Amino acid sequence: MSPFLLTRTLPEDATDAALRVDVLKGLTSSPKTLPPKWFYDARGSELFEQITELPEYYPTRAEREILVGRASEIAAVTGARTLVELGSGSSEKTRYVIDALTGLHTYVPVDVSESALTQAGQALVEERPGLDVHALIADFTGGLTLPDTPGPRLVAFLGGTIGNLLPAERAAFLATVRALLAPGDALLLGTDLVKDEKVLVQAYDDAAGVTAAFNKNVLAVINRELGADFDPGDFDHVARWDPRTEWIEMRLRSRVAQTVKVPALDLVVEFAAGEEMRTEVSAKFRRDGVRAELSTAGLELAHWWTDSEERFALSLSVAR
Ligand code: SAH
Ligand code: AVI
Repeated sequence: MSPFLLTRTLPEDATDAALRVDVLKGLTSSPKTLPPKWFYDARGSELFEQITELPEYYPTRAEREILVGRASEIAAVTGARTLVELGSGSSEKTRYVIDALTGLHTYVPVDVSESALTQAGQALVEERPGLDVHALIADFTGGLTLPDTPGPRLVAFLGGTIGNLLPAERAAFLATVRALLAPGDALLLGTDLVKDEKVLVQAYDDAAGVTAAFNKNVLAVINRELGADFDPGDFDHVARWDPRTEWIEMRLRSRVAQTVKVPALDLVVEFAAGEEMRTEVSAKFRRDGVRAELSTAGLELAHWWTDSEERFALSLSVAR
């Protein structure tokens, strides 16, 4: 079997320190916020996989349709020997690209979720003999140091996860990605598209309540890691479309006036009845906006593919 290497680019106490900083800042801000990357412990990653199978959650199916149809074109255009995937999760859809890239030498999945990386990486080395898998536990918004592997390099960022970054974070992120690319390298980017509000809200507020459980999982993470006493039952899941910013905003709304203790931070936080805390934005895009943001980062849009219902787009851009 070919090698599976798992590297932690941040020591565990750095992850712990980052959580403390984010929670302290977020719970003492007005309005309160929490960054979405803390959804993804083992339970959060599992809940996300369940979301991808919900009838209301179309992005995964739409992006898979595009990948199935375009994988060989992506392989022919890029000829990648190294595939780096940011926020790789289960790597499920990525398999279409991996299979099409006949000269692929190394796959580098990058994720904050160790459980997702381990499961996906181990399955891949068994399924794809000859492929090196070098997984990195890392924050893709931090400075990434990639292993020294043969080019050309293709960086994939699928699922629409770029929409979970705020506009300024997105600009900084794309500049970081550009810095990872040499001439001839490419970025494969998945972006969910602006569409009917009802379709969007249902995708983030499913009838079975899986997205609600995913949203509340961030409270369980803070309870476990920082000894907090959040009662997830005291919060309601909220998903709203903001037409001005063109993003879905997920929030947790306090059902009652309550006090929450976070002992590891020496923090006591008051929530008013009905107070809402933002836990995620999920921005939706238009072609011109994507092209402009890529261009600002020094990337040139070369291909734009959508699914048959034009719900989701996959773009391939090259370093200028
Ligand atoms: N790409 C997959 C998974 C999307 S879910 C798909 O298309 O289905 C988003 C993934 O990004 C999760 O696996 C989560 O753990 C990871 N993630 C979120 N924020 C991250 C960050 N700041 N750095 C690294 N990984 C992150
Ligand atoms: C990972 N990311 C693209 C998902 C999204 O659609 O914004 C996360 C998610 N949040 C709620 N449902 C899914």
